[in-house]
Amino acid sequence: MALYSVVRMLEKKSRMKDLSMHVTDIARNSVEAAASQVIVSFGLDKKEGVLEVKFEDNGRGMSAEMVKRVTDPFTTTRTTRKVGLGLPLFKMSATQTGGSLLVESEPEKGTVVTAVFDVKHIDCVPLGDLAGAATLLITGNPGVEFQFIFNANGHSYSVSTTEIQDTLGEKEISQPKVVRFIKEMIQENIKDIDFDF
Ligand SMILES: Nc1ncnc2c1ncn2[C@@H]1O[C@H](COP(=O)(O)OP(=O)(O)OP(=O)(O)O)[C@@H](O)[C@H]1O
Ligand SMILES: [Mg+2]
Repeated sequence: MALYSVVRMLEKKSRMKDLSMHVTDIARNSVEAAASQVIVSFGLDKKEGVLEVKFEDNGRGMSAEMVKRVTDPFTTTRTTRKVGLGLPLFKMSATQTGGSLLVESEPEKGTVVTAVFDVKHIDCVPLGDLAGAATLLITGNPGVEFQFIFNANGHSYSVSTTEIQDTLGEKEISQPKVVRFIKEMIQENIKDIDFDF
């Protein structure tokens, strides 16, 4: 592994210290892949100690060869393209708990990224500011229809770009006051369904 890759990886790894950072990072891949729709769903089973995080988009997708390469960038012999780190680090966070990461994709159709975490494992990253991450993704990408679905032990809360735009009416979605309002609303709802571990 080239030294610059190691340095880039360590630098990015130090920023990916909680799930909300990963969520922002992985969802950004969907936006960069020109997706018009992104669904991010969280399924928490506290009793089993399992958290599943799934990203589904309708972006440009990837070839089978690319899918194989994205989660194991350092196994490739190709050196012409800079390696991505978002998916490998997300995979690392999941597998270090004994969990898994799966990437399914089809060119021109879209991509599904599914990660499973053992939240009882001592090496599991904390949730971080999930409401803040969802808020920034929604308000920062007004052309993308985001949906966030939180499931925790049979309780569910869902929020989407369209829903929020309908609630706001004429108000500008990126106004600081509006952003704060959205974040607090999501935060309260996540708390209400007891989405935490
Ligand atoms: N949802 C997606 N749709 C289409 N292509 C994707 C998607 N996610 C990842 N890719 C492809 O896989 C590559 C690797 O993604 P990854 O997040 O690991 O790194 P990156 O985005 O290139 O760089 P970094 O995240 O480190 O800034 C991307 O550059 C992109 O080509
Ligand atoms: Mg990325």
